[in-house]
Amino acid sequence: MKTLPRTALSIETSCDETAFAYFEIENNTANLVAHALYSQAAEHSEFGGVVPHMAARLHHKKIPLVFSELLSHIRDCGKEFSPEVIFVTDGPGLSPSLWTGVNQAVILGEALGVPVYGVNHMHGHLFSGLFVQGTQSFELDHEFQNSLGVLISGGHTDFLSVNDWGEYQWLGGTQDDAIGEAFDKVSKMLGLGYPGGPIVSKKAAHGDPEAYDFPLPMLHSKDLMMSYSGLKTAVLYTIQDYLKSYEELDEKFIADVCASFQLAAVDVLVKKITFAIEQEHPEKVFVGGGVIANPYLKAQLEILSEKTGVELVAAQGVLTSDNAIMIGMAGILHLYHGVTLQPPVVQSSLGSDEL
Ligand code: KG4
Ligand code: ZN
Repeated sequence: MKTLPRTALSIETSCDETAFAYFEIENNTANLVAHALYSQAAEHSEFGGVVPHMAARLHHKKIPLVFSELLSHIRDCGKEFSPEVIFVTDGPGLSPSLWTGVNQAVILGEALGVPVYGVNHMHGHLFSGLFVQGTQSFELDHEFQNSLGVLISGGHTDFLSVNDWGEYQWLGGTQDDAIGEAFDKVSKMLGLGYPGGPIVSKKAAHGDPEAYDFPLPMLHSKDLMMSYSGLKTAVLYTIQDYLKSYEELDEKFIADVCASFQLAAVDVLVKKITFAIEQEHPEKVFVGGGVIANPYLKAQLEILSEKTGVELVAAQGVLTSDNAIMIGMAGILHLYHGVTLQPPVVQSSLGSDEL
């Protein structure tokens, strides 16, 4: 990329996080000046999952507040808000939510006279591991060939071949529930709330992973296809059986179910990643999406990376769950590496092959 903007604003509203980030770009490095985020998780928790129209209403309500929080952080750094480009998530996600961010981006773009580009949310997750927490920045000069992308979120469990900037090909993934969705549904079945992943993984830390022998879905399919619905149903039957003998779920049962479920859900994923490494011989594995926050998964992936010598580039901290930093990163990196970007077009349910 030859004429790179010096500043960029990014906006994310694809699901239940309202988020803005602002960057300065200098000498092939993009520095995060400020970001602001509001998570609606508490509002959706009592429903056991995201309620799309409530999510859109909350985005409408929170956008002005989160945006002014961003502006005040920028001022606190002694900087001016003057973006030369705006990136906004335009899919995949919940369409009422996506529209709120895209409309905001278009209005700001018109007002400021700067271009607005749509960014695929999953591309944000894919490269979020390139963000350096210590310096709050990321380098633009990343080259890679023949790498593997692993996207594990509430809506996706996907394996991609990542050959160059903009060259992503879907290799396989879930045929039904995504891994994060399975964590969320198990949490709901156990009456634990939303988002389920962090709650289930905390409970799992006190449970016996061998208490229940849950199925490892599609473990031996000799491809990168996955399914989590059988595992989810097995958990449901275990809970129903338990409730035939007891009036309510006790803490030990909950912890054991969480630990046994987590073992099955993570082990099958790690085995599929191992299979992908053996098949594709990637030089790096980019891992992103909310489920990377799972401590058991993270530990297993580190062991795998040590064993195979394949470099793991995984999201950390605030970059694991939905945020606007990763949207700015994908936008800036794609622009820098000459990938053609387009004005946003809301796409609520992109097929995996369109990643
Ligand atoms: O990437 P993300 O924030 O949003 C989507 O794009 O979907 O991912 C959210 C998903 C939720 O399903 C959540 O339960 C899951 O990531 N998650 C976890 C953990 N933390 C978040 N799953 C397992 N273990 C965790 N610690
Ligand atoms: Zn996401």
